[in-house]
Amino acid sequence: MSNYHIKHLEEYFQVYRKSVRNPEAFWEEIAEEHFLWRKKWDNVLSWDFSKPEVKWFENAKLNITENCIDRHLTTRGEKTAILFEPNNPNEEAQHISYYELHKRVCKMANVLKENGVKKGDRVCIYLPMIPELAVSLLACARIGAIHSVVFAGFSSNALATRINDSDCKLVITSDGSFRGKKSIDLKGIVDVALNDCPGVKTVLVAKRTNAEITMVEGRDKWLQPLLDEAYGDCVAEIMDAEDPLFILYTSGSTGTPKGMVHTTGGYMVYTAYTFKNIFQYKENDIYWCTADIGWITGHSYIVYGPLANGATTVMFEGVPSYPDFGRFWEVVEKHKVTQFYTAPTAIRALAKENMDFVENHDLSSLKVLGSVGEPINEEAWHWYNNNVGKNNSPIVDTWWQTETGGIMISPIPYVTPTTPTYATLPFIGIQPALMDENGQEVKGNQVEGRLCIKYPWPSIARTIWGNHERYRDTYFSAYKDKYFTGDGALRDGVGYYRITGRVDDVIIVSGHNLGTAPIEDTINEHPAVAESAIVGFPHDVKGNALYGYVILKEFGETRDRDNLRNEINQQITEHIGPIAKLDKIQFVTGLPKTRSGKIMRRILRKIASNDTGNLGDISTLLNPEIVKEIMDNSL
Ligand code: WTA
Repeated sequence: MSNYHIKHLEEYFQVYRKSVRNPEAFWEEIAEEHFLWRKKWDNVLSWDFSKPEVKWFENAKLNITENCIDRHLTTRGEKTAILFEPNNPNEEAQHISYYELHKRVCKMANVLKENGVKKGDRVCIYLPMIPELAVSLLACARIGAIHSVVFAGFSSNALATRINDSDCKLVITSDGSFRGKKSIDLKGIVDVALNDCPGVKTVLVAKRTNAEITMVEGRDKWLQPLLDEAYGDCVAEIMDAEDPLFILYTSGSTGTPKGMVHTTGGYMVYTAYTFKNIFQYKENDIYWCTADIGWITGHSYIVYGPLANGATTVMFEGVPSYPDFGRFWEVVEKHKVTQFYTAPTAIRALAKENMDFVENHDLSSLKVLGSVGEPINEEAWHWYNNNVGKNNSPIVDTWWQTETGGIMISPIPYVTPTTPTYATLPFIGIQPALMDENGQEVKGNQVEGRLCIKYPWPSIARTIWGNHERYRDTYFSAYKDKYFTGDGALRDGVGYYRITGRVDDVIIVSGHNLGTAPIEDTINEHPAVAESAIVGFPHDVKGNALYGYVILKEFGETRDRDNLRNEINQQITEHIGPIAKLDKIQFVTGLPKTRSGKIMRRILRKIASNDTGNLGDISTLLNPEIVKEIMDNSL
C-alpha cells in the first residue's frame, strides 16, 4: 500500500524523500491505488518548463465525477455528500446524499446536453452558494464541458470580459442571491453583461429569491422545469487525463484577468491526496470550508477534493455576520463540524467582536482549523488557536494559488508542529526554491528570497486560456526552469517557510487578489481623471486596503472632492466589483516618477502606510519635489 494517509512526522519525512527522489513512481502509486481509471496511463509525467509543457498520466482515461460520485454509491450512497446551510438560519439545512447528488448531477448534465453543450464547450457559471452551483460544476465535468465559474460578486463588466475571453456559449445563473440581510439581483447583472456577449445562446436560471426578473425570449430558461423533465442518469463522458476540466480567472498585475486552465487527472489526484492529509480527513467527519466556490479554494476544497474522498462537505450560503457574528460558530455547533477552513480576513473581523459570540457555542467537535488566502498575522493566529481551537485543534496555514490547483506548503495536523505565521513544510512532492535578485537559488536555512517551485506537481495549471505565451512570460521567464509564484518567502532555521507576501503589483484585499493596473485603467476612464496610481496599505481586518493617488484634469480641479471620490468608487464597482473599491483617495498634482517615466510605487506605498521614516534615495526621481507635497496632504 502507498502512504496515502500520513500519520506522524517520521513518516512525512520518509514519504517526502520518496516523492522527491522519484516523483513519477510516487504519484503513479497514489494514482493507481486510490482512483477509478477507465484506462491507465502510458507515461506518468513528461515536462519541460521552458516551453512550458506538463503532462501527467498521459493517455489515461477517466471521468472525475465517477471518482467523486459514482464509486461511492455502493459504499456510501446514503451518506451526505453536500450539506447545504442556507443564508437564513431559519431555513432548513439540506442533506444531499451521494445518491441524490448523482441524480441531480445527471439531470443537470442532461439539461446541458439538450441545450447543445458538447464536450470541450465552455459553460459560464454565475451562481450564489446554493447546491445548484456544485451540481453545475459536476454536470459540466460529467459531459466533458469546461466550466468557468465567475464569483457572483463580480460586476457585469467583469463577467462579460470573462465570458468572452473563453467564448462561453451557455450561462447558468439564478434570479438572485441572498447575502445576509441583502438580496442581490444576479440576473440583472447577467442581462447587462450579455449585451456584450454575442456568443451566449442560452441562459439557465435557477430560482432562489423569487425576485421579479425579465426572461429574454428564446435565450433564458427556468432551470427547475427542465431538471424535473430530465432523465436521472447520464453516462459519464470518458475524458483524457489532460483534457481541460475548468478555467478559473485570476487577476494579473497587468492586463485582463488570466484564465487559468486545469486539467482532469493530475488535478483530481492532487486535490484528493492533499485533502485527505492536510485535513486528516476520516470517514464520518463533517468538513466545512467557508470559501465561495467562485474561487479556487472552493473548487478544490469544497467540491473536488472532499467528494473524491467520499466526504461530507458543507456549503454555506451566508456571511459570518448574519444574523450576528456568532453565525460560523452556530453552524459548527449545529452540524458538529470537525474541520473548519477559512480566511484570515474573516478571523480578524470576528476577533473584533464580543467574545460571547464564540463562547456561547459548543465547538468541541473541531479537530482541525485551516487558514488560506493571505499571510495570517500572529494576533489572528493566536485568537483562532485559543478561542476557536481551545489550544486543541492544530491550525493548518495553507499556502497555495489558483495556479497551483492544490495546497503546496502547509503543516499536516497532528504531524507537523505548527508555528504562528509559518506555512511550515512543503507538502509531499513539492520542491520549493528561494531565489535571489541575480537569479541564483539561495540554499540553506535562515534565508529569504522569491518563492519558486522546481519540479512539476500533478495539479499545476497547464496554460492560460488562449494565451500560452502569457503563461510562459508570467510564470516561467523570471527564473530558468522554475515556476515563479509571485510571492516572497523566508526559510527559518528548521526549514519552515513563511510567506511574506506578493512581490509583484498584485494586492490581496480580504483574501482577494487584485491587480493594480486594471483598477488604475478603470479610474483613468473617469472624465475628470488624468492619471492614477494604486498601492496597498495595512488594514486591520482586510489585511490590505487600497490607497489611490489621483491626478485630475484641469476641469476636474474645481469639482467637489467627495463627489469625485464617490464617482471613482462607483466606476470601480461597475467595472470590476465592490471588492476593488478604494479606502482612500488622495488628489495629487503629480506622481513620483523615475527618469524613464515609471511610477515609484515603493515611495507611494510608504506614504500610504505612514512609514515615511526612510523613503530611500529620492534624488534620482524626475520630480523629487512632489514627494513632499504628497506627504503633506496624505490621508
Ligand atoms: C496568497 C488562494 C500567505 C499568496 C488559494 C498567493 C497566502 C495568493 C496564503 C494566491 C497563505 C494564499 N499564506 N499567503 N497561507 N495562501 N496566499 O490565487 O500571495 O486566490 O500567491 O489562491 O494568495 O491567491 P489565490
